[in-house]
Amino acid sequence: MRKPFIAGNWKMNTDSRTSVELADAIAAASLTVAGQGVTIALMPPFVYLQAVVRTLSGSHIAVGAQDVYYEQNGAFTGEISASMLKDIGCTYALCGHSERRHVIGEMDELINKKVTAAVNGGLLPVLCVGELIEQRRAGKTAEVVTGQMKKGLAGLSGEKLSAVTIAYEPVWAIGTGLTATAEQAQEVHALIRKLLGEMYDGRLAEEIRILYGGSVKPANAGELMSEPDVDGLLVGGASLKAEDFITIIKAAA
Ligand code: PGA
Repeated sequence: MRKPFIAGNWKMNTDSRTSVELADAIAAASLTVAGQGVTIALMPPFVYLQAVVRTLSGSHIAVGAQDVYYEQNGAFTGEISASMLKDIGCTYALCGHSERRHVIGEMDELINKKVTAAVNGGLLPVLCVGELIEQRRAGKTAEVVTGQMKKGLAGLSGEKLSAVTIAYEPVWAIGTGLTATAEQAQEVHALIRKLLGEMYDGRLAEEIRILYGGSVKPANAGELMSEPDVDGLLVGGASLKAEDFITIIKAAA
C-alpha cells in the first residue's frame, strides 16, 4: 500500500515572517486532520528552509528543497548541495521541476545528476516530468514523459530507486488554472508505473509513489486522488493558503 503524499511547493513566495506563519498553521491543523496517514512535505525557498524546519520540529511534516546541486561542495557559486540540505534537516528535494526545465533551462542530463546526488546524499528526490501543451497536442505525451523518466533515472539502481518519488506535472496545467482531468492524469501515471516496471521490476514499480501536480485545488484534489495510480499531489499556488492546503490533505487522508 502506497501512503498518500501531499507536498506544497511554495516556489519563490513567502518571506521570513509568512513562511513561519504558514508552516505553523499547516502543522497545527494537520495534527487533527491527517495524523500519520499521509506523508506531508513543505518546500519553501532555500533561505527560509531552516526557519521552517525549526517551526515544524516535533510535527510529522517533512521539509523539502525546491532544487539541489549535484556536487558536494566547492567552487559552485550560488549552488546548494545535498549534504547542506541534509545538514539543516531537509528530507526531500525537487529535481527537474518544469520551471527549472523551461524557465532556467535545465536539461535531463543535469537533472539526472541531481537525482543521483540527492539519493547518494541521503535525500529523497522528487523527479518531476511532464509535457508542454504543443507536445500533448502533437500526441507526444508518452514519448516526452518516457524520455524524461529514462534520462532522469539513468544509472540509478533499483535499491536507490526506492528513495525516489515521481511527480507528473503537465506543463500546461501548472499555474494556469487548467487541471488535467483525473482520467488524463491516471493515463500518464499508469504509463509511468508500467515504464518503471520495465526499467526495474513490477514489485518495485508498485512501491513508487507518483504524484500529480498542476493547478491542484481543494475542489479537484479528491477526484484526482481517487485514481488508482495517483498517490499524491504536488501543490503550488494552493499550498500558500493553509486552509486550502489542509483541505487537500484531508482529501488524501
Ligand atoms: P500549481 O503548481 O499548483 O500552482 O499549478 C504546481 C507545481 O508547479 O508544482
